Amino acid sequence: MSSGAPNAPIPLLAGAAIDGMNAYRALVEEAQRDPEAYWARLAREHLDWQRPFTRTLDATNAPFFKWFDDGLLNASYNCLDRHLANGGAARTALIFEADGGEVTTLSYGELHARVCRVANALRERGVRRGDRVMIYLPMSVEGVVAMQACARIGAPHSVVFGGFSAKSLHERMVNVGACVLITADEQVRGGRHLPLKTIADEALSMDGGENVHTVIVYRRTGGAVPWQAGRDVWLHEIEAAQSAACEPEWVDAEHPLFILYTSGSTGTPKGVQHSTGGYLLWAALTMKWTFDIRASDVFWCTADIGWITGHSYICYGPTAVGATQVIFEGVPTWPDAGRFWQMIGRHKVSIFYTAPTAIRSLIKAADSHPEVHPSRYDLGTLRLLGTVGEPINPDAWRWFAAEVGGGRCPVLDTFWQTETGGHMIAPLPGVTPLVPGSCTLPLPGIEAAIVDESGRDVPNGNGGLLVIKRPWPSMLRTVWGNPARYRAGYFPEELGGTLYLAGDGAIRDPHTGYFTITGRVDDVLNVSGHRMGTAEIESALAAHPEVAEAAVVGRPDATTGEAIVAFVVLKGQRPVDAEAQRVADALRAWVGHEIGPIAKPREIRFGDAMPKTRSGKIVRRLLRSVAKGEAIEQDTSTVENPAVISQFSKAA
Ligand code: PRX
Repeated sequence: MSSGAPNAPIPLLAGAAIDGMNAYRALVEEAQRDPEAYWARLAREHLDWQRPFTRTLDATNAPFFKWFDDGLLNASYNCLDRHLANGGAARTALIFEADGGEVTTLSYGELHARVCRVANALRERGVRRGDRVMIYLPMSVEGVVAMQACARIGAPHSVVFGGFSAKSLHERMVNVGACVLITADEQVRGGRHLPLKTIADEALSMDGGENVHTVIVYRRTGGAVPWQAGRDVWLHEIEAAQSAACEPEWVDAEHPLFILYTSGSTGTPKGVQHSTGGYLLWAALTMKWTFDIRASDVFWCTADIGWITGHSYICYGPTAVGATQVIFEGVPTWPDAGRFWQMIGRHKVSIFYTAPTAIRSLIKAADSHPEVHPSRYDLGTLRLLGTVGEPINPDAWRWFAAEVGGGRCPVLDTFWQTETGGHMIAPLPGVTPLVPGSCTLPLPGIEAAIVDESGRDVPNGNGGLLVIKRPWPSMLRTVWGNPARYRAGYFPEELGGTLYLAGDGAIRDPHTGYFTITGRVDDVLNVSGHRMGTAEIESALAAHPEVAEAAVVGRPDATTGEAIVAFVVLKGQRPVDAEAQRVADALRAWVGHEIGPIAKPREIRFGDAMPKTRSGKIVRRLLRSVAKGEAIEQDTSTVENPAVISQFSKAA
């Protein structure tokens, strides 16, 4: 891996929203002195309330916290209407670049009009406050319009990433109890068309799909689609029939804005429920604090709206602060691996937020194809860089800083999660001297700490479990339909029941107090920044008629962070050679169909039985070593059947 000349420290940004360490400390102290007064001040200053709140935090039913709960507001009003006066309607909201390079721009006035039309259409189809709307769309203007339209009428949305299968879509749709689905005829990525509506119809044909009374279809390609008259309607037709004015539904701050499914340590994904007021406050505030967003900026977050990053830093954060942003339909490597760099130049992007996996794959590409090296492009408009989704290795960090940021732009390694709603631990460009590989310090008001297995603080320099000690406004409110899972999973009794458990390991530097995230401590994998539960993949494999038992572990991978390795025992004989290859291919395709292509195991290994303890537990630590190709030096005396270990040492 090449990295630029080792680098003079990247200078702090002058005149940033939080300007210097003293300003940061003042905020941290304000938050510590009187947390409620601090959050109340911020919520009054950064959001527009239809009726001001009088209560800041209600902790009577902890850990089910309520924030600003007697205040009324509307998220779409805060993201759109409040920017329209004084010429703001003409300001560019979205610069959309399609897979093939076509560009469409929308002003705040135009975005507002489209959101109002779709909101009116949803109301006309009977969607009311509290009804859930499923969104299964590609990266598009329409995705943002659909989400904002739901917010406008108080209908919580649940977006499912376009790469998920019909079964995954169905499972989420039924769990959330959706009455409307918004999808597209096809999705276009890297020149390929994928039949979204066909997949959506497959999901709708399964049990419970009949509860969806309306399917709204965005015509992206004009490709042929299956159609059910009465239920299915074209987005452009219903939009054209509606007025561009729509009174927002004023909801209380605790009203659920959305439910976004994510993986946990069991086989069923959990619906992370976010609120309207607390969530939006942090989405807006972190745009100002972390990204120092200014009127002259062009912001680009490369995430997909199917993930939390696309919710907070595409749909809600940038619009809440009236920013101009780029959104991109395609993939970083098509038509070649210079696409990101070319787009930064073309759209004069000044703040660029992406995933370590993308950076690592573009480093590789630039090493072998100098014509797509960032130095060949005009990146002079960049002033801030950010990463999210997984740990960034110092080499990739340095390359990003030097080759993309030209040594001028702070690189902000932002740690957060679906559950946290927005950045938790992240450098501030005017405050924090940067250290590659560290997400540095918690944002003011976020009480991050590292504890041991019984919830006691560990000294700096010792690793432990990352926790948040106090509630914060943008935290998840519950797991949809499963409050017990919320309590047990995030506020476990073993830690005393009051600490929010992130599920990540972390360590603090003894000198700087900086945090470094060491990765998940539970059975959650992070593959190319996509979060996946080993249990989900295991149950998908176990559902295959030929599979008797399956265990899934992660193995470190230089590009994707982790790679999925599956250990499988078949009902029949252990396959070898060509037969093993055939079964492995079939199982990979099966997982792709059950969950989605992102969950396909990189490797599948077969054995006669799983290595188990005498009490019947699969010895996962052993499987993790086997997956890494390590010599087994661990004690295997507790393993009932150590002979199978050598069978598993080879991938099919
Ligand atoms: O393990 C951490 C990792 O991603 C997990 C959260 O995944 P998800 O809910 O899908 O949200 C991703 C986008 C916010 C975390 O538990 N993670 C996220 N950001 C970082 C990170 N690990 C290290 N450094 C980060 N900056």
